[in-house]
Amino acid sequence: MKCLRWLAVFSLIAPAVWAEDPQDDWQLSEVCPPGFVLEGESCKFSSLYSEYPSLQDAGMGGLKVGLPEPRDGFKPAEIDLGRLLFFDPVLSGDGSVSCASCHQPDKGFTDGRALSRGIHGQIAERSAPSLWNVGFLDTLFWDGRAKSLEEQMLGPLYAEHEMGNTPEQLMASLSANPTYVKLFKQAFPERGLTLDTVYIALAAFESSLISLNSRYDLYAHGFHDVLNQNEIEGMNIFRSFVARCGECHTPPLFTNRELAVLGTPEPTGRPLDIGAEGPTGDRSLRGGFKVPTLRNIELTAPYMHSGRFKTLRETVEFYTKGRGHAVPEGEHLSIHWHIWEPKLTDAELDRLVDFLLTLTDQSFMPVIPERVPSGLSVVDALNHSEITTTPVAMGDTP
Ligand code: HEC
Ligand code: HEC
Repeated sequence: MKCLRWLAVFSLIAPAVWAEDPQDDWQLSEVCPPGFVLEGESCKFSSLYSEYPSLQDAGMGGLKVGLPEPRDGFKPAEIDLGRLLFFDPVLSGDGSVSCASCHQPDKGFTDGRALSRGIHGQIAERSAPSLWNVGFLDTLFWDGRAKSLEEQMLGPLYAEHEMGNTPEQLMASLSANPTYVKLFKQAFPERGLTLDTVYIALAAFESSLISLNSRYDLYAHGFHDVLNQNEIEGMNIFRSFVARCGECHTPPLFTNRELAVLGTPEPTGRPLDIGAEGPTGDRSLRGGFKVPTLRNIELTAPYMHSGRFKTLRETVEFYTKGRGHAVPEGEHLSIHWHIWEPKLTDAELDRLVDFLLTLTDQSFMPVIPERVPSGLSVVDALNHSEITTTPVAMGDTP
């Protein structure tokens, strides 16, 4: 077992090969994606981090910190079917938008926009978060309003301004497609195609998006030469009791999976986003958002729930500009006690950015299907956000 885990670490060097895109006949993969091993019929998550103490026991200071329970136990065919669904615009009301339109693989599964664009170019309320390691999370959406992947996806699928579908229409379009009917039978022999199996397949695919083989991870597992002096300095600032980044962005996921009120600014002209106060009704969570992972942060600009910051440097600088400096006048937010004025120097901010860039790892990138069972264009859906270019008001940094 240990050997397998080491293999997972070293697959950083060998490019990951997973399911080939089926060319002639549609067949689902019988192989687990990288990062998982087949146990019986299902894929079990495997990582060196599973050997370390849990997130709670080890505290934020140490590098050898374990992971929370992953979502695993899906069959290879379920995961592979989820991959096809994820890239298939048939999931949207007008066949123009896929999940991948807003969660694009080459942008860390985000869309490069401050605010996402749904069908007919409609503007979503917030920025699309990365989906890397999303299978470890049990608090989803920026305001934490969904507790599972299955609950979360009902949002985009049926929101009028995102994918604009209805459960009835989704079932009608998938059941009218003999390939999907066959593939659902293959992945779910007993249940076949139902709304639930659509959701399970998508959740299975999302849970396979594992990014734990960055240069930082090699360092954490004992290969100390992989980080240079600047990066190590940045890591030490990140973990320090002055900057306190690691208390919220706790390794190895770089999130403690909690909500926190920071008082980040909205784009000019947009009112305060009340965040987690909305779903919870809790006044102390006004302007609170879930602590996002910093994995692959290099690829997911612009940053924060509103996409307010264009660069990592600008984002990191927010933390040293003074507690509450961007809170609109007249608003009183219960800002988290770890947000204060650490007075980081320009050089220290640069080192923090150096460190954040060590968290990039796409070695387990799934294969983007060249075609999907609906026959709709995967590429047009991926380019969707470039086609619809309604400008968003973006102000200067306050
Ligand atoms: C129109 C763009 C768009 C489409 C299409 C879309 N998403 Fe998203 N997604 C977003 C935005 C924006 C958010 C954040 C919304 C919020 O927090 O209020 C989000 C949030 C998420 C999250 C929560 C991640 C986290 O860390 O909290 C998951 C998971 C997710 N989407 C999966 C999907 C899946 C699966 C599909 C396809 C069924 C999909 N998305 C389609 C834009 C989109
Ligand atoms: C009190 C908890 C907390 C602390 C401490 C903290 N963060 Fe954050 N961080 C958050 C939350 C919450 C967000 C999202 C806020 C929003 O969208 O308005 C965030 C967002 C970010 C983002 C943008 C992520 C994205 O996907 O857009 C970066 C980068 C970041 N933090 C880096 C840091 C660094 C560097 C430090 C230390 C100087 C730090 N954070 C300290 C909670 C924290």
